[in-house]
Amino acid sequence: MERTPCDLLVFGANDVVTWVDGVAGDSVAVLDGKVVAVGDQASLRAAWNPAEETDASGSVLVPGFVDAHTHPVFAVGRAEEFDWRAQGVDYLEIARRGGGILSSVKNVRECDEGRLTEIVEGHFQRMLGLGTMACEAKSGYGLSLDAECKSLRAIRDAAELTGMEVHPTFLGAHMIPAEHRDAPDVYMDLLCEEMLPRVADEGLARAADIFIEEGAFNLQQARRYLERAKELGFALRVHADQFNELGGVQLAVELGAECVDHLEALTDAGLEALALGEKKTFAGLLPAVPHFLRQSIDAPARKLLDAGVPYFVATDFNPGSCYTPSLAEAAHFARVRLCLTASEALYGVTAGAADSLGIGDRRGRIAPGYEGDFLMLDLPDIHHFGYAFGECPVM
Ligand code: NIG
Ligand code: FE
Repeated sequence: MERTPCDLLVFGANDVVTWVDGVAGDSVAVLDGKVVAVGDQASLRAAWNPAEETDASGSVLVPGFVDAHTHPVFAVGRAEEFDWRAQGVDYLEIARRGGGILSSVKNVRECDEGRLTEIVEGHFQRMLGLGTMACEAKSGYGLSLDAECKSLRAIRDAAELTGMEVHPTFLGAHMIPAEHRDAPDVYMDLLCEEMLPRVADEGLARAADIFIEEGAFNLQQARRYLERAKELGFALRVHADQFNELGGVQLAVELGAECVDHLEALTDAGLEALALGEKKTFAGLLPAVPHFLRQSIDAPARKLLDAGVPYFVATDFNPGSCYTPSLAEAAHFARVRLCLTASEALYGVTAGAADSLGIGDRRGRIAPGYEGDFLMLDLPDIHHFGYAFGECPVM
């Protein structure tokens, strides 16, 4: 029988995690950057004639990681806060003292666009090296029309330079900037009447996000902002219930948000809203954050999964509350702190994350038609995923 040419055959893996019923085997064939076949080595060799081959023995093949929640546009880190927290100052108190998000805002505003792009490029390179092939990336350290647009252009240009598939999110509602502290309504007007429309016009972001929290935005402000964003055609992604329950989860569900993230302070009412919501709003689990912030409280992930709420696991990579771009590390914390199984954690950083971004038909799984971006993990089997920490299994 004539064999069909393909570009690559990756063969002989210990396992291939596909997340697609009926698609299984130990080998994968790729043509033109897309998976064309998954199966056992003998049958794939009988059907395909590869230009190149990779021996995957001893490894597990998994879909390329998708990080569905990152804040990569910051100019410098905030390592000093790490010490302050060790001395007992908590995250919201640091913000009240003018540190936190607003100190990153100062640095981003002062950074010129070329340099900012280089920094974001560096972050995307690190993420790619750790197996993240696609990500969501938020602005949110600019908080003015110019600095937010600059941040979103830096995301766009860094994506182009690195080949990372990026889904940009406008987070102009991350915090009230210092110049509007005494007149938050003026900033809300700016967000709703100038910034959101401009970002939409220029096509700089596909989604809009807001931080609903004491010291950030209240529920009334969030409703106005999210309704306006929705009207302008943005998908909605929301930060809520990180420290305090303000009703942000119910609002996100009501407005059909793609996801609501953090959820450490989720109540039974919020859980019920997520479980019963008509358009499925994903629970964004960020388990490395409470670790980084030395908190003892975690999102009630088991309850969410048991209630059938769709979910993903993400890093929340940012300088203040979670300084890791590694999804393997986030998966470890998902296993330790959220009591997810290895499969559940892996699903959260692949298929779940891709589905939440609306790209689950071409990323997050290994099956014919999907992107050929999959990973060889140096693991004997899937149960070892998220078991080790402090080292990266991506080969
Ligand atoms: O998702 N919670 C709000 N925003 C980020 C943290 C940003 C920062 O501290 O710089 C988060 O944790
Ligand atoms: Fe975040």
